[in-house]
Amino acid sequence: MPKIKTILVTGEKGQLGQSLKTLVSEYPQYDFTFTGRDQLDLACTESIDDYFTKNSFDLIINCAAYTAVDKAEEQQALANTINHLAVKHLAEISKKNNALLVHISTDYVFDGTSYKPYVENDVTNPQSIYGKTKLKGEQAIQAIGCDAVIIRTSWVYSEYGNNFVKTMLRLGHDREQLNVIFDQIGSPTYAADLATSILAVADSFNNEAEGQLGLYHYSNEGVCSWYDFAKAIFELSNTQCIVSAIETKDYPTPAKRPHYSLLNKAKIKQHFKINIPYWKDSLQLCLNKLQ
Ligand SMILES: NC(=O)c1ccc[n+]([C@@H]2O[C@H](COP(=O)([O-])OP(=O)(O)OC[C@H]3O[C@@H](n4cnc5c(N)ncnc54)[C@H](OP(=O)(O)O)[C@@H]3O)[C@@H](O)[C@H]2O)c1
Repeated sequence: MPKIKTILVTGEKGQLGQSLKTLVSEYPQYDFTFTGRDQLDLACTESIDDYFTKNSFDLIINCAAYTAVDKAEEQQALANTINHLAVKHLAEISKKNNALLVHISTDYVFDGTSYKPYVENDVTNPQSIYGKTKLKGEQAIQAIGCDAVIIRTSWVYSEYGNNFVKTMLRLGHDREQLNVIFDQIGSPTYAADLATSILAVADSFNNEAEGQLGLYHYSNEGVCSWYDFAKAIFELSNTQCIVSAIETKDYPTPAKRPHYSLLNKAKIKQHFKINIPYWKDSLQLCLNKLQ
């Protein structure tokens, strides 16, 4: 693998894409390019081919994805095109160009029936179209065998776009009381922390002794339910809103979500010497930025 000098980040308008953009000044040694669907439409094979005929990179960080979990149950073909077929295409291009591919996947590849944090080689069994298409994306990369790091993450939030934290803040100001699910357990991920770790991982490949390809798990440290998460958002932002714990069965959604999707992060911490912040500490940082 050649030394990394040029980096492409897809999904520039997404949570992770925007979080990566804020870190560019910390890595002056790299030449970053950020693309949205206007320049590189992952739903369109011609757009991908056309873009990579004109541009080449040492590293592609694929932050673009079809992320509308419930809508994906109806838009199966589109979700598959973006989360699977386009990823396969990016892997082929990476292999041909001898580039490194860093791809982001999800805890929703698991069925949530475990009782202990999932490790990377635990059996997958996605319960939703989103989870199934994301898993197919992972498998396509592995089958093609390009140089790749796949990072599964969970419950991503940030000061950008739409996410649980921003929704809770909005609803918390409008309503006196909210019902939030307490029987889905996982760990939130502040996109800024994930972005920092992605660049640390990528950077390690410029030191041959450090970089290690493969599949990794990343979220913030700690564990909570969506109910705990909502309670913490209101406490840390001094929002007066009563949160009532409800069961998943009382809040039906088109897509089935895992009841338990805690990710074991030992591998990424060990391989890349990464310190991962506790979820509430990162939540406070995000809330400070939002207020
Ligand atoms: N959000 C979560 O809770 C979560 C949890 C686990 C894993 N992940 C994974 O983490 C990664 C980053 O997620 P995120 O939260 O940053 O997602 P996000 O905010 O929804 O951003 C996704 C980006 O993908 C872009 N995109 C969608 N379709 C595209 C297309 N056809 N061509 C090019 N770009 C397209 C979107 O563009 P537009 O802005 O133009 O729509 C958007 O900028 C994704 O791989 C996601 O699957 C997310």
